[in-house]
Amino acid sequence: MRPILKKLPKPIFPSLCRTTPRAAYYTQPSAAYFDLNRQSELAVSTTPTGISKEQRESLHKALRVDQAGEIAANWIYKGQLVVLGNDPTVGPLIQEMWRQEQKHLMVMDRLQVQHRVRPTVLTEVAKVAGFGLGAVTALMGKEAAMACTEAVETVIGEHYDDQLKEFELLPSEHPSIPLLRDVVREFRDDELEHLDIAVENFSQRAPVHALLSAVVGAGCKVAIEMCKRI
Ligand SMILES: [Fe+2]
Ligand SMILES: [Fe+2]
Repeated sequence: MRPILKKLPKPIFPSLCRTTPRAAYYTQPSAAYFDLNRQSELAVSTTPTGISKEQRESLHKALRVDQAGEIAANWIYKGQLVVLGNDPTVGPLIQEMWRQEQKHLMVMDRLQVQHRVRPTVLTEVAKVAGFGLGAVTALMGKEAAMACTEAVETVIGEHYDDQLKEFELLPSEHPSIPLLRDVVREFRDDELEHLDIAVENFSQRAPVHALLSAVVGAGCKVAIEMCKRI
């Protein structure tokens, strides 16, 4: 079956996108999922068959939670943009981070189909919770919005980092697995760049920064565990 291809979102502010300058945007590992000439490659169109039941379960849990996380991230940034989209200092930054989250989600959607993973039943909850978190923290001010980004991206960056170690246990013979590792590494680096942007934009000056970080970080960790299971 021919995969449904969506257009890769272009960075609208490439100068702000430090790890993803315009040229690199199309040569990163995830670009394999947007390159029309590569759609028949086994790496982007098939799932390994020679892995154990435990390895399959671990792959499915990982991709289920990743897809849910990218959905939530998209809605967090959407919520922030509703409030701060016209702010000249942070509006363009949030917009650019959202563009990257759109790319992450498009790839996770493709990976979910490729590896035949059941999506979480919590998809709609992730959207509402993400939007609410983004909008409420943005209403508390720019610094609080950045503190939310700092907390979320810290957890997600660590999550992708842990996942990379898990994926080292999967056999590399099937070409989809090395590509998956490269994509997760790319996304981890994007998330850590978002974390840096948040800190550089005064996340730590947010009112009740420590409390906000603790609550948002703990909420993300609970959500990760729930989405792995259901
Ligand atoms: Fe992301
Ligand atoms: Fe992110």
